[in-house]
Amino acid sequence: MNAQENTTLTLPKWVDLHAHLRQEPMLAPLIEAQISMGCRGTLAMPNTKPPLAKVLEADPLPYGSVESYLGRIRAIAGDRMPEVIVPLYLTKDTTPKMIEDGAKSGILRACKYYPPHGTTGADFACGLETFMENGVIEAIEETGLVLCAHGEEHILGDADFFDRNRNAEILFYTNRAPRLLDACPDLKFVAEHMTTRTACDFVKKAGPNVAASITPQHLLYTISDLLKGCKYHLYCMPLLKFEDDRAALREAVTSADNGKFFAGTDSAPHTTKATECGCAAGCFTGGYAPQLYAQAFEEAGCALESLENQQIFRQFLCTNGPEFYALPAAADGETFTLTRTPRKVEMLEIPGAGAVTPLPLGTKRDTLPWSVAV
Ligand code: NCD
Ligand code: ZN
Repeated sequence: MNAQENTTLTLPKWVDLHAHLRQEPMLAPLIEAQISMGCRGTLAMPNTKPPLAKVLEADPLPYGSVESYLGRIRAIAGDRMPEVIVPLYLTKDTTPKMIEDGAKSGILRACKYYPPHGTTGADFACGLETFMENGVIEAIEETGLVLCAHGEEHILGDADFFDRNRNAEILFYTNRAPRLLDACPDLKFVAEHMTTRTACDFVKKAGPNVAASITPQHLLYTISDLLKGCKYHLYCMPLLKFEDDRAALREAVTSADNGKFFAGTDSAPHTTKATECGCAAGCFTGGYAPQLYAQAFEEAGCALESLENQQIFRQFLCTNGPEFYALPAAADGETFTLTRTPRKVEMLEIPGAGAVTPLPLGTKRDTLPWSVAV
């Protein structure tokens, strides 16, 4: 056996800073999948049914509450995954007072902007200009909460919906995001699931209050992988992009000064992906994300035998994100291991809901070069 075959990284438990844990009966199995891949925390997205668009359960608005969802996650995860953030879904009913009171109570740490009709569960979203006009963004800036932005501007017509030089994310980061940060220069802003060179340049040039999460699928695949054979398990929003975009993301995460970039899987399970009239957007990576990120780092030329490269990987997966969100660091000994031992990927059966397919299943591959032990 050569040295490469048994490379083992002992890593601090990490925080997945963008994942979809859905609602019962999916919630508990999805939390277990997060814990099984070494997560000590998750930023759990609010596009549940109903959406989490109020902070307190006592608020009479007809939505789910951040307070109740946090309680349900804590009841299942307990000390095994203590760092849980649930952002408030911004809708037409969000008020600055809701943000201010939520921040004061300690329940609210972040808010989520979805582009109207831009993705799965975005039906309650409102345009960013609404929140810039009604004081909601200002309240987020002043309270020091994080704005998690799904940075896409879905205004392109069908004919030019997707182009190498013009797509919904490029529009957002050349137009909307600069105006937002000019108006609110201290806003803590995360470019969620960043996919383009344009967004990457925007984040690099902005101040330390601007950072980005990056998914395994956008580091591993390009739009060609989705199109060749119509691999619909790779269909997610934002869409996979071109080689030059992937190169920009790979360069950003594998450079020694990758401090603005961190892991957020956007793991988004769907029990039915392809239908007769379209495909549900979302890639599921629960249970397998550190392995996929490790594979992506190595495909980007960042071989993980080297101690220096292991440090860069650790920053991206384990420390940059918690530092940006001001979460406590993992305690000494709160670790998991990632070993270069190939492991078969298994479907996740969810009682009462159906089966979900983790990547790379559905891409003609069923084995990952790395395995995880907690
Ligand atoms: C997400 C989902 O399924 O909830 N889908 C996706 O393609 N990423 C929604 C989202 O985060 O955009
Ligand atoms: Zn998402």
